[in-house]
Amino acid sequence: MSGEAKRTVAALPGEGVGEGMPAHVAIIMDGNGRWAARRGLPRFEGHRRGVEAIRRAVRTAGDLGIRYLTLYSFSAENWRRPAQEVSDLMGLLKRFVRHDLADLHAGNVRVRIIGAREGLAPDIRPLLDEAEQLTQGNTGLTLVIAFNYGGRQEIVRAVQALARKVREGGLDPEAIDAAALEAHLDTAGIPDPDLVIRTSGEQRVSNFLTWQTAYSEFVFIPDFWPDFDEATFRAALDEYFKRERRFGGLSARAV
Ligand code: IPE
Ligand code: IPE
Ligand code: MG
Repeated sequence: MSGEAKRTVAALPGEGVGEGMPAHVAIIMDGNGRWAARRGLPRFEGHRRGVEAIRRAVRTAGDLGIRYLTLYSFSAENWRRPAQEVSDLMGLLKRFVRHDLADLHAGNVRVRIIGAREGLAPDIRPLLDEAEQLTQGNTGLTLVIAFNYGGRQEIVRAVQALARKVREGGLDPEAIDAAALEAHLDTAGIPDPDLVIRTSGEQRVSNFLTWQTAYSEFVFIPDFWPDFDEATFRAALDEYFKRERRFGGLSARAV
């Protein structure tokens, strides 16, 4: 397959798998509905095909030696969609966990779920807990699923947790710093994303990882999510490698 010739990412001189890779790639998987509409298919078909793209993305991330892959699968605002679509998306999540958990576990993938657990149907919560518990000892790729997730809501929950500690007398307000807040986010212990990819041509963050993306690089891809494959992933990484991250400092060429 010509894919080998495209391995510009892992074939840079002196690079092995994982070396030089962003440690954490986060993806806003957008465009399932438009993918389906273009084909005269129901939106559900786009979501169903989107699950196949998820499997490809997880495989590619593991092959490339990326340590953390975060996938935005359902936002705190997606409840605004018609009840049937919300129910379809919940059904696909359940099916994904039931069908794919054993494979993920066998592949040494560690699963973490971020987002609010409150308000989820009673049959979903235990599935999420099971996915995390079964895979917690795994040492390969960490797959972070952002489900019922909103960045602002996550920050509010962290602030509430800190405020409770202050009220109980265990925490001095002056001791609250960025590290203390981070420790109370759903992503505690996970490094900030180096790269955020959004498919479908939209160029916005839609309440994704609001705190964590302060210095992430963003790559926007015109393709709809169901078409996302290894070549698209590698092209996004190649774009990332062209970027110069400065974190508020000066260009390496300027010093
Ligand atoms: C992404 O595709 C999946 C979710 C947001 C759950 P969309 O469903 O947003 O598809 P478009 O953006 O309407 O095409
Ligand atoms: C963002 O996509 C949420 C997910 C990909 C899960 P949306 O399609 O919900 O975002 P907006 O509404 O276009 O900003
Ligand atoms: Mg969308």
